[in-house]
Amino acid sequence: MAWGEKLLSLLDLGLTIHVWRVGLTCQVLSLGNKRKRKRNDLNQGEIDSLAFHHKIRSAILEGTKSLVDAGLSCEYLSEVNDAREGPLPSQECNLAALCDMAKELPLVSEHGEDPVQFIESEDGCSTTHLDLFTRITENCMDFAMEVMLMGEKYIIPPRCAFLLSDFARMQPLVGYGRFFDLIVLDPPWENKSVKRSGRYSFLPSSQLKRLPVPLLASTGCVVVTWVTNRPSHLRFVRDELYPHWGVEVLAEWFWVKVTRSGEYVFPLDSPHKKPYEVLVLGRYRGKTELPMEEQRVIVSVPSALHSHKPSLSEVLSPYVGADARCLELFARSLQPGWTSWGNEVIKFQHVSYYTMEPTDTATGSLHGESSPHFSLPPPTPD
Ligand SMILES: C[S@@+](CC[C@H](N)C(=O)[O-])C[C@H]1O[C@@H](n2cnc3c(N)ncnc32)[C@H](O)[C@@H]1O
Repeated sequence: MAWGEKLLSLLDLGLTIHVWRVGLTCQVLSLGNKRKRKRNDLNQGEIDSLAFHHKIRSAILEGTKSLVDAGLSCEYLSEVNDAREGPLPSQECNLAALCDMAKELPLVSEHGEDPVQFIESEDGCSTTHLDLFTRITENCMDFAMEVMLMGEKYIIPPRCAFLLSDFARMQPLVGYGRFFDLIVLDPPWENKSVKRSGRYSFLPSSQLKRLPVPLLASTGCVVVTWVTNRPSHLRFVRDELYPHWGVEVLAEWFWVKVTRSGEYVFPLDSPHKKPYEVLVLGRYRGKTELPMEEQRVIVSVPSALHSHKPSLSEVLSPYVGADARCLELFARSLQPGWTSWGNEVIKFQHVSYYTMEPTDTATGSLHGESSPHFSLPPPTPD
């Protein structure tokens, strides 16, 4: 999964934006006596979405074509769509519900205890007595470790730290005393499909302003926010959220989702779902030492796990340096070397998502084994 995920990217894409006329098919046939919705019945949100799509369309088109051609020629993508779909592992613990209950627990700072705990190996494998909800848990080893929660096993990658908690319980992260050079966040934006599916709870935009980003960012920290395709969310990040935190907007990048054979996962001009998502990049107080392209396209085959984003580790390392301290907010998985927080932060670390494979690198090894590593089942487009 994220550990070795490949991303293709292209610098300096079409800064001249062409406006394209897109055949809009938004007519919806009515049921009963509801009136037919006509083309020019678009609401303001839809008009804004369309205008945004027109603005970025040629950059997406040109960038994706170049990257897909490159992906096909280096055989990362293949002309034959051989997507293998199997059942996804089921998740036993409802981590968000546990975090909700843990809101009642006293904070360790109230008892003067160390906010950090280290995973130590008891029996060569598992550790069971950790308090994952009110303390930062660190694996400072060069190999993966296991932790147990409610009888379930989770794989913790090497050299990483995490806090499993609700938004209202982020104090241990601030108390950790680290300042990060890169902060990536993927907020639970309010939207109809998440509401309908009940996959996770959302947070109103106004609450996001309360995230303690200024207390966690080093001077010059790069802040990256995943934004759904709603222009109102995009405007909120650029005009309210970043200024509120003291973050200057630097760039807007696009993640384009393609199938294994390089097709868009949804038609590019579909009025419903778009095959791309937006990233807004900014810098917290400080001058840009490493220049950043205002526009960039990243292409990858999305994970089969709903809403799971690709790791940005490799793509962002030229802008933050190799030794950057990195933090992910609202994470559902862990990355080697990163600190991560969220009310489902270890969800995709559940052992059922992994298979053991022999490897000659130490980075993915589980303590006590010769040198196995864990990897997710191959991704398939959702
Ligand atoms: C869009 S998802 C993040 C997906 C993740 N980046 C990935 O690639 O798998 C948003 C996450 O925010 C979490 N979340 C929602 N409300 C929260 C809260 N009050 N406190 C902490 N996390 C919350 C959700 O449970 C979900 O895991």
